[in-house]
Parts: sequence; C-alpha cells; structure tokens
Amino acid sequence: MAPTACEPVLVTRRLPQEVLARIAGACDLDLWQGTGAMPRGELLRHAAGKTGLVTLLTDRIDEELLAAAGPDLRIVANYAVGYDNIDVAACSARGILVANTPDVLTETSADMAWALMLAATRRICEGDRLVRSGQPWFWDPGMLLGWDLHHKVLGLVGFGRIGQAVARRAQGFGMRVVYASRRAAPAEIDRAVGVQRVPLADLLADADFVSLHVPLTPETRHLISADELRRMKPGAVLVNTSRGAVVDEAALAAALGAGEIFAAGLDVYEREPEVLPALLSLPNVVLAPHLGSASIETRLAMGMMAADNLLAALSGRRPPTLVNPEVWDARSHAEPR
Ligand code: DGY
Repeated sequence: MAPTACEPVLVTRRLPQEVLARIAGACDLDLWQGTGAMPRGELLRHAAGKTGLVTLLTDRIDEELLAAAGPDLRIVANYAVGYDNIDVAACSARGILVANTPDVLTETSADMAWALMLAATRRICEGDRLVRSGQPWFWDPGMLLGWDLHHKVLGLVGFGRIGQAVARRAQGFGMRVVYASRRAAPAEIDRAVGVQRVPLADLLADADFVSLHVPLTPETRHLISADELRRMKPGAVLVNTSRGAVVDEAALAAALGAGEIFAAGLDVYEREPEVLPALLSLPNVVLAPHLGSASIETRLAMGMMAADNLLAALSGRRPPTLVNPEVWDARSHAEPR
C-alpha cells in the first residue's frame, strides 16, 4: 500500500534530487529550502500537523517539537546513522517510530577515519598550507616529519559496524588492532578481522592511533578527557569521526598544545558547527567539517533509506531500519493509523 498523496511530510534540508522526487511523488512535501539548519521557530512551525518528518542531525527532536508536531506524527526518519539529536524515549512514549540510516554509510565513514589518521600523522594539511603560502621551500631531510602509520598499533574505541570497517582496512597497513567496547564482538569477527578486545586504559597506553567509534550517550560524553589523553603515547594520534562531545575539546587542545600527544584529526565538534578557538590555532590538528559520510554515492543511499523508512511508515509497513522497533511491535499495523 502506498501512502496517500496528501500525507503531509516535512524534509528539513535539501537532499539529493532523486530522494526529494521520490518523497514528493508519494506525499505532500514541505521542503525547507534554506541553507543551514532550520531555525528552531521554523522547525516547530513547519512540523505542525505533519505525519512524517525527515530530519538531520542538526534538528533537535524533543518533547517541545513533538508537542508542536501534534498527534498525527507517525515517524521521524533521521538522515544519519547517529540519532543523538532525537529524544527516542519521548517518541516511543507517543508511539512515534524513529528510524536511522545504518550500513549504507559504514564504508564511507571508515574511509574518512583513515583519511584523518593519514593526514594527521603525515602532516598533509600543514604541508598544504606551506605550499599555498608561497613561502620558498625545498626538499629537506627534516621538513614536516610525521610518524609512520604502517605496522603500528591501532586502537578502536567502539567496535560496531564502522569500527569493524576501520579495522578491516588496517590489515593492508600491517597494523595490530585492539578495541575497547562494552560488548565483545562475536569471536568469528575478532578472528576474521584479527583484533583483540582490551580495557580502554590498556588501549590508550598501547595504541599509536586511537580512533573513536561510539555513539554519543550520557556514558560516552567526554569519554576522552584529560586523564585519558595523559595515558596516550606522546607520539599518538587521536581521530574522532563519531560525535564531538565524546572528546573534551578543551582538554584535547591543551594536550595537543603541550605535546602530550602528537596530533589529532577531527570531523566532529562539541558545539558543532562552532570549533573551539584554541583548536583553530594549533598546527597539529586536522579539522574537517563533519564529512564522514560525505560521498555522492553514500549521501544518495542515505536519502533513499530515509525515504524508504518514511514511506513504509506512512503506508502501514514496517520501516526497514527502526531505532525503536518495540513501538512497531506494540502496535497493530494491519491498517495505517
Ligand atoms: C551520521 O550519520 O550519524 C553521521 O554523523 C553523518 O552522516
């Protein structure tokens, strides 16, 4: 069953054209045309009366928003694998489905973690700035020396889909891989990828490269703070492609400035899109504007998955990638509401 053409849905940012065409072909689409995140007041106003929302990680979906949307809202389809922007418990309490976009961005996000690891340890951005500056330079035995990455130790904090994809790539660099995670991965994954689970403190002391792959939750907020940074090796590189607040940014800036660790590569920030000024002035941190999933193929796949979730919910079918499947299970879906 297709959704009725008059199901009113809000998409909070321009998505790939194919995705918008698909949604517009099946629903009454209200598309926010502005650049940047929808201002809060506009989000509250446009959400009113909608049966479905396609949201981004810059949209806060909380009690206030759900109240503004009203009783007809059936699904919040997030265009991201992370959903720390959504109060899932509040949605579930109202019987609203929440969906995300896992799997389609796993490999692309893993590539990004590697891009940052390599750029930070081999000082690519410092070199780029030097060349662009117009300053005379010549090949020099001591110029912009970094640390080798191959045959070193990679420590993964979090070992879900993206962490595992990062680990698989490490085989090509001859690295030993350790991971810290609340739950052990199935033994066959440990064996296939060649990794060992260790406590976080041991990982920090052992790894030359530490890459973060945990969701942002109350437990992981500032998981990497001054103490953890002090445990790392002086030549170590920290990479964060998960969520900014997993790292205490002020502590990281202090550690980088004091040479407690060699370098960092960041794709995400505590108060995104703001970046701590202390980080901006440090040469040994590579700063990317949250590009983890930013490939043409992957952004299209994410959009199609968000559309699949939206259209399924609005036509009474189970959305493929639900964050709160218990809401679906608890309801009879013989007929759409
Ligand atoms: C996500 O999906 O959670 C990323 O941060 C953006 O793609």
